[in-house]
Amino acid sequence: MITLTNIHKYFDDQEVLHGIDATFEEGKTNLVIGRSGSGKTVLLRCIVGLLTPEHGQVLYDGRDIHRLSKREGSLLRQEMGMLFQGAALFDSMNVLQNVMFPLEMFSNMTLREQQHRARFCLERVGLTDAESKMPSELSGGMQKRVAIARAIALEPRYLFCDEPNSGLDPISSRIIDRLISDITHEYGITTIVNTHDMGSVRGIGEQIVFIHEGRAEWTGNSATLYDAASPHLREFLESDR
Ligand SMILES: Nc1ncnc2c1ncn2[C@@H]1O[C@H](COP(=O)(O)OP(=O)(O)OP(=O)(O)O)[C@@H](O)[C@H]1O
Ligand SMILES: [Mg+2]
Repeated sequence: MITLTNIHKYFDDQEVLHGIDATFEEGKTNLVIGRSGSGKTVLLRCIVGLLTPEHGQVLYDGRDIHRLSKREGSLLRQEMGMLFQGAALFDSMNVLQNVMFPLEMFSNMTLREQQHRARFCLERVGLTDAESKMPSELSGGMQKRVAIARAIALEPRYLFCDEPNSGLDPISSRIIDRLISDITHEYGITTIVNTHDMGSVRGIGEQIVFIHEGRAEWTGNSATLYDAASPHLREFLESDR
């Protein structure tokens, strides 16, 4: 479980996050939704430790990421898988090498074990035949799947995805959603997905936090979404109709 308490983030004297509280549960796809510029990416960067909030706490099953020793921090980072905006594969490495990269960096596996694990992850995302292709030879959706395989290579406890469907058509988007959701359930991962894709919200919104102008205005799930009283959330939903 990841718990946020009173997260405030400023850039110079401009406040972008105004005290966010939220809980993200284990084994669930937790969505953070909101309009462009509402603060989703800044929040995710505060959660993973790429940005430091001026106030507040980010607890990973009780561990405050912003107050860990160097050693504790590097252990926690090995429990995190990330999928950031754009697939961000290494262009000069083939598919298999891309997925092996975190294993080479952070595990004590032999080369053979790394290959075995990487092939298992590629199979999991349905890309067994693509292992010797270069990223430039793959479609956008396939690149995302490689990025997912790489993100799960180290068997993360926590998975973070920032707009995993950006640039994909609706059908490929649903495939990526399903994959993220299945992996989350299968391995009991605490997953946080930033999105403004209403297809994802309806499809995999087990737990949803709606952010408006840096404030968490509503929490619920895809079943309670349309009963929500928050006017900003209603406006957000109606823009999709
Ligand atoms: N490094 C930065 N310096 C100054 N302002 C920033 C910085 N990063 C983000 N912001 C501001 O913080 C606000 C929230 O941005 P953020 O990128 O989190 O939005 P978002 O919800 O992820 O939007 P999108 O859906 O378009 O990705 C914006 O007003 C943005 O201009
Ligand atoms: Mg963003």
